[in-house]
Amino acid sequence: MQTKIIKYSSDSIAEAAEIIKDGGIVAFKTETVYGLGADAYNARAVASVFAAKGRPQDNPLIVHLSDAGEIGGVAVLTRAANALAVALMPGAITMVLKKTERIPYAVTSGLETVAVRVPSDPDARAFIRACGVPIAAPSANLSGRPSPVSAQDVYADLKGRIPLILDGGNCEIGLESTVIDLTVNPPVILRPGGVSKGEIEKIIGGTCEAAKAEGAAKSPGMKYRHYAPGIPLEFYPYSERGAAAARARQFAAHNRVAILNASGVSVDNASVDISGAGSARLFSELRRLETSCDVIIAIGAPDGAPCADAVNNRLRKAAGKTSDV
Ligand code: TXA
Ligand code: MG
Repeated sequence: MQTKIIKYSSDSIAEAAEIIKDGGIVAFKTETVYGLGADAYNARAVASVFAAKGRPQDNPLIVHLSDAGEIGGVAVLTRAANALAVALMPGAITMVLKKTERIPYAVTSGLETVAVRVPSDPDARAFIRACGVPIAAPSANLSGRPSPVSAQDVYADLKGRIPLILDGGNCEIGLESTVIDLTVNPPVILRPGGVSKGEIEKIIGGTCEAAKAEGAAKSPGMKYRHYAPGIPLEFYPYSERGAAAARARQFAAHNRVAILNASGVSVDNASVDISGAGSARLFSELRRLETSCDVIIAIGAPDGAPCADAVNNRLRKAAGKTSDV
């Protein structure tokens, strides 16, 4: 199969919508990362998303809507969910809610809950609207690889496996949405993202928890290795940055070492600084470094830094540590 990359336009959106209506799959840019979409009501189309990505069957997909007003069709809105929808949607937040009958178990991997998100990217919403159905979409990478933040990233992973990539340039946020489970009390943040726990607590007027141990994880995706570049990556929390520098020197004798610095403080010989707003470059740097280096030493962000939880979570997982978030 030939994979076309076409810039978002009314014509390309119409072409993509036709593919979706025919039961096909299309990759599309959102403000967080690129998604790989299918008609969420079509179990067979959804199955081909899992096949194209090589995604484990027990890891459910997010249902994307063009407007928060449509949530009621796919999920049961609670009071807290409604407050979050009003305050944060469209945006980089995904809510896990009780699903309605319209959503097939193919989307939710057999769960009674469904994850819903309304992207803020206007082109993504125009595409979803043109499809006329909710769009089930995981990130558009091969399973286990860093999430794609450009059409070229998608192409590198999925060429020959999908017909079309709607190219909207680089993703502004570059990290996936915050996932919050609102079917439990207190709500649990299953995946940290740009929306912080504090922000969510203020909106819902109560506390929420951060997911911890894998055993207790309700988000099936938490148990898999994720975001892994094609070369080894070692993660050092901010408090252990001294050890990271020593480790890098050790490697340097025989390897091309990259120090990926998310700490916000200057580190000797850091090859790439992704602190602060640079978190948007995390995944693209992982993909770039895997072709130019032998090993990556990553230094995490200190508590309280912008997106610290989200960035450290992705780096830990890229290092193969799946038991904590
Ligand atoms: O920013 C994003 O969220 C991007 C863009 C494309 O929207 N999507 C994305 O999808 O990151 P994906 O499939 O890579 O990650 C979805 C996460 C997984 O960890 C999955 O396990 C979890 O959401 N999830 C989906 N449905 C769930 C459910 N019903 N219960 C618990 N976790 C769920
Ligand atoms: Mg993903």
